[in-house]
Amino acid sequence: MPGRNFQRVVMKETKQTVSFTEFDNAAELPAELRELLQKAKSAVANAYAPYSQFRVGAAVLLENGEVVTGSNQENASSPAGICAERVALSAASSMNPGVGIRSIAISAKADGYEVAEPVAPCGICRQTILEYEYRFGKNIEIVLQGDRGKILRIATVKELLPLNFSRDNLKR
Ligand code: THU
Repeated sequence: MPGRNFQRVVMKETKQTVSFTEFDNAAELPAELRELLQKAKSAVANAYAPYSQFRVGAAVLLENGEVVTGSNQENASSPAGICAERVALSAASSMNPGVGIRSIAISAKADGYEVAEPVAPCGICRQTILEYEYRFGKNIEIVLQGDRGKILRIATVKELLPLNFSRDNLKR
C-alpha cells in the first residue's frame, strides 16, 4: 500500500544453542550415572499406563547419595495423570526435605514398539526440575535414554528450557 511502511525494526537477534553430550553405550557414563539410569529402567516396571501403554521410569539422585524412583501414573481423566519425573521428584523432596538433587535419569518402554530415541521430559517436568535447581541453587544433571539406543547427558535443565520463568521473575 502506498505510504505504508512494512519494514520491521529489529533491535537485536539472539540465537541460543542447546548443549548436551551423546553416548552410544551406558558403559561410557560415569558409574554413578550408569547406575542411576539402570534404576530408572527398573522403575519403568512400576508404571501405571493403561491408556498410553507408554511406561516411563525416573530415578533421582540426592546429594546424600540416596536414590528415589518414580514412574508415570495415569488416570482415566488424563490431566490427573502424572509423569514419572514429577512422581520421583515429589517423592524425593517430600521424603528428604531440604536435601539437594544431583541428577535425574529417565527411561521409557512402550508396548508394541521400541523406544529407540531418548525420552526428554515434557514442558511441565522441565519447569519442575528448574524449580529444584533454584531451590537448591545447583544444576541438576539429566540423563536420557529410550529402552535402548543413544544416551544424552545434559548439565542443566536450563539447556532444555531457555527463556524460562522462575522465582527471579517474581522479585520486586
Ligand atoms: N510421560 C512421562 O512420564 N514422562 C515424560 O517425560 C514424557 C511422558 C508419560 C505421561 C503419560 O503417562 C505417558 O508418558 C504418555 O504421554
